[in-house]
Amino acid sequence: MDILKLYVFFVSIVLNDCANILYSIPFTSKSHYIMLRPIGLELARRGHNVTVITPFREKDPPANYHEVMVDLKEIWETIGMERPNVFTMVDLSSEEFLNKILWDGGLAFTEVALNSIDVQKFLKADHKFDIVVGEQFFQEAFYSLAHKYQAPLVLVTTSGNYMRCNIAMRNPLQLSTVVADYLIVKDPKSFWGRFRNAYYVMYEFFWWKYWYLPMQEALIPKYIPNLPEPVPRLYDVQSNVSLLLINSHFSFEGPVAYLPNIVEVGGLHLSKSDSELPKDFQKILDNAKYGVVYVNFGSNVRSSELPLAKKQAFLKVFSELKQTVIWKWEDDTLTNIPSNIVIRKWLPQKEILAHPNIKVFIAHGGLIGMQEAIFNGVPIMGIPIYADQYNNLLDAENIGFGKMLQYHDINEESLIRSLNDMISNASYGRKAKEISRRFKDRPMTALDTAIFWIEYVIRNNGADYMKNPALSMSWIESNMLDVYGFVIVVDLVIIYVFIKMVKFLLGIGKKSVTEKKKRN
Ligand SMILES: *[C@@H]1O[C@H](CO)[C@@H](O)[C@H](O)[C@H]1NC(C)=O
Repeated sequence: MDILKLYVFFVSIVLNDCANILYSIPFTSKSHYIMLRPIGLELARRGHNVTVITPFREKDPPANYHEVMVDLKEIWETIGMERPNVFTMVDLSSEEFLNKILWDGGLAFTEVALNSIDVQKFLKADHKFDIVVGEQFFQEAFYSLAHKYQAPLVLVTTSGNYMRCNIAMRNPLQLSTVVADYLIVKDPKSFWGRFRNAYYVMYEFFWWKYWYLPMQEALIPKYIPNLPEPVPRLYDVQSNVSLLLINSHFSFEGPVAYLPNIVEVGGLHLSKSDSELPKDFQKILDNAKYGVVYVNFGSNVRSSELPLAKKQAFLKVFSELKQTVIWKWEDDTLTNIPSNIVIRKWLPQKEILAHPNIKVFIAHGGLIGMQEAIFNGVPIMGIPIYADQYNNLLDAENIGFGKMLQYHDINEESLIRSLNDMISNASYGRKAKEISRRFKDRPMTALDTAIFWIEYVIRNNGADYMKNPALSMSWIESNMLDVYGFVIVVDLVIIYVFIKMVKFLLGIGKKSVTEKKKRN
């Protein structure tokens, strides 16, 4: 086996131009790593020399896959906060979520990551890289590594399209149809929905660019040595990104116009399954005569932290189902568990969702879990808690394979009503199968697409010709505001002259009439 691996490695070195790739994915959330992991491993499998900055260690990485370890601290620890009950986040406004969680958390986390012993050792050593690939998230100081190594920068998102990237790369915003990443708005196409969207996009952009990014920039001289002068602004670094891979696909999120260097790779962690369903689960799932309700609120939200009343409502409703319930439950407090409920602290989600007996997935609507459900054609009953979850579930509801239940509305009655509807109404399942087929119907797999474009950027030395030429223009010029302004001024002048002329002619008319009258 190892000989085969080595053989593949050397053959690919001979056949390809193998590159030295820095893959910077320092964020400490497991769900982000699930999505980002296959890119690094696949690049290594194809023979590139890959160096990954990450908090997660691989068990059996190939020889040309090197890890630089980031200290694994939860975001709460870095802010110096106790882990809050994540369900309380449901009450934060979109703006509060940005301020308190993403920006404060992002800054604290970036500093901890840069200051990790292994990362510091790596940054002080002498390395050369042909390309830097990084996650587009709230760790922007890391993007200056592209400048450090004088290499093109590729960014990858883990939760779809980001408005701030669209603005930086000068992709058209399409505010009437594209809702900002983490904005919660009930009716996005209505006048007030679009107004809210426009306001939020501006709010986020200005605070991000003029307040948050300068603080990220302040971390750079402190932790990243040997940067060639002058060090570019982080905003400009993101405008000049060679390629942005986004974790979305139009079959689910809907169509959006993108520049050629913004490429949709949604679902890339699903192209290959590298593990099997454990035996005990295989048995439970095979034997579930009436199907299975699968409950998992993701890696950050813990069912065990539900308030007592909601916990009991879930238990009561589940215990009355004919279906088997598989539920991620993180502590040992649950006693007298009804016989049809199976609880575990951790669950192999990708493999469970792939089983044909799954009837409904009760989830929070995070994108990774959504994509796993879509891939396998499983209907979703979603309870959104934070970030993009509301928007993902809104899409699912609109397409018809999902249903949303608001956290504060959870009680026995609402749960029974929603669950019964989802289990008995076959249209959810049909829609889920349809979207699954659409999601997979592509010229090549999402992972192959991502690798193709990364290698394309390497082959073409950054492929500058893919960037929007509007980047060299001012914001006013690239949005044609000077031309529109000119047209409006000319129109106003014409209207003004016309009115003056009409008045003048009427004046002459009046004069001649009064003169006539006078003469008579
Ligand atoms: C691969 O990358 C590592 C840095 O992580 C470097 O030390 C090593 O020299 C590189 N190997 C090749 C063949 O370039």
